[in-house]
Amino acid sequence: MHKLLLALALVAAPAMAANDIVMHRDPGCGCCEAWAAQVAKQFGRAVTVVDNANRGAIHKRIGMPAGLASCHTALIAGLAFEGHVPIADMKRLLAQRPAGVTGLAVPGMPIGSPGMEVPGRAADHYTVVAFGTGKPAIFARH
Ligand code: CU
Ligand code: CU
Repeated sequence: MHKLLLALALVAAPAMAANDIVMHRDPGCGCCEAWAAQVAKQFGRAVTVVDNANRGAIHKRIGMPAGLASCHTALIAGLAFEGHVPIADMKRLLAQRPAGVTGLAVPGMPIGSPGMEVPGRAADHYTVVAFGTGKPAIFARH
């Protein structure tokens, strides 16, 4: 596993804060970094990027159904975020922490989701799905 820290000039990284953000991604995938840069900026925290070809093990641990998979899995403050989840939805989940929910997923890679912006192309409609101990449920629509 190869670790590298995104260079973020504006973020003064506190030494190993308990709520540091760690993102496991498909090795070499670029859109993950585009998403991570937006997360780092809006959370004001460093994001540690881990190239991980075996994210299935993490999916199992966090109780995420395989059908919700995307290109990266980020872990923050005990919750998991799969794929290009909008930052506002992440902040809402982190604030509300509904019982039984371990994370949010945006399956696939919809155009127009954070980090998947394509100039000149209209955004896809997509849903953010909450998963955990219960049945996956729609958390937000975009
Ligand atoms: Cu992606
Ligand atoms: Cu990616």
